Amino acid sequence: MIDRSASAVKPAQMPNPSRAALIDRLPKAELHLHIEGSLEPELLFALAKRNAVAIPFASVEEVRAAYSFTNLQDFLDIYYQGMSVLQTEQDFYDLTWAYLERAAADTVRHVEIFFDPQGHTERGVAFETALNGIERALIDGEAQLGISYRIIMCFLRHLSEEDAFATLDQALPHLDRIDGVGLDSSEVGHPPAKFARVFAKARKLGLHVTAHAGEEGPPEYVYEALDLLEVERIDHGNRALEDAALVSRIVGEGLTLTVCPLSNLKLCVIKDIAASPVKRMLDLGLKATINSDDPAYFGGYINANFHAVAEALDLTEAEIVQLAENSFTGSFLPVLDSARHLAEIAEVANG
Ligand code: HPA
Ligand code: ZN
Repeated sequence: MIDRSASAVKPAQMPNPSRAALIDRLPKAELHLHIEGSLEPELLFALAKRNAVAIPFASVEEVRAAYSFTNLQDFLDIYYQGMSVLQTEQDFYDLTWAYLERAAADTVRHVEIFFDPQGHTERGVAFETALNGIERALIDGEAQLGISYRIIMCFLRHLSEEDAFATLDQALPHLDRIDGVGLDSSEVGHPPAKFARVFAKARKLGLHVTAHAGEEGPPEYVYEALDLLEVERIDHGNRALEDAALVSRIVGEGLTLTVCPLSNLKLCVIKDIAASPVKRMLDLGLKATINSDDPAYFGGYINANFHAVAEALDLTEAEIVQLAENSFTGSFLPVLDSARHLAEIAEVANG
């Protein structure tokens, strides 16, 4: 007798070479990437040495061994500690350049990167030191690697509204270089409502707005991000799936969700990669995208995230193409630029 239960699970686990090759070749945009989360242990060590900053690890192996998390806060504690080695503009340049080289290898054509100014200013590193270094690398990346970019500054939600307003004030002389604001850090207990007035001011200044919501927080936080922050995208959004009315609303408004599969796995938002909501989201008509979040900490850059979900969920080539298309249509690029990338996707998909 044929064992159908066994054969039914097999295909999803078998590598599919043409699907894998498609992922490797498709042009993509990365919309959810914390640049500080791309700090690889090797660079962490090099910068600690360069700046004579003490770190509580004796080797790169020890650092990697510490990257075991049971929830978001576990990770954030290590993430903020890691940032302490970033001191000079050149450090931020080197960090960003290293990410861009990885992104180029993954055929990323456009990045909208987050940075956490408060993670630096609260340690005495100037807002401009971080911004200048990150931007200089992005300018070089556009010229040398063909990767266009946007810069999104995030407010740390565990800090006060007053602190967020002060951070927005620091951005005022640089509004021609900053494209949007986001909201990150410890979600539960720090609902979007806490930052409604800051986001209203950011919108008035002409900035794009996005926020982490529904990573660990309940669907109510996603409603607040929509109603009170008036976000244009939802970062993560996993828990929106618990509320059918919310799903219909997000579908109706055509909002993009920036999903981060390996992050979800490492932070125990999902039990295993097969529990990633990416396919369910697509089936529901949600504009899901694939992103790496904090790749140095979560075990992979954007293509690794694509490969992991494609295999675990047995995604079709059409679904993979859809995910790549969503990354451009959900970006802050002008429609004509997006269209150019969509045409390139079609060429790769049909070629
Ligand atoms: N969630 C919230 N805050 C963050 C994250 C995340 O995944 N990464 C960096 N800051
Ligand atoms: Zn994130």
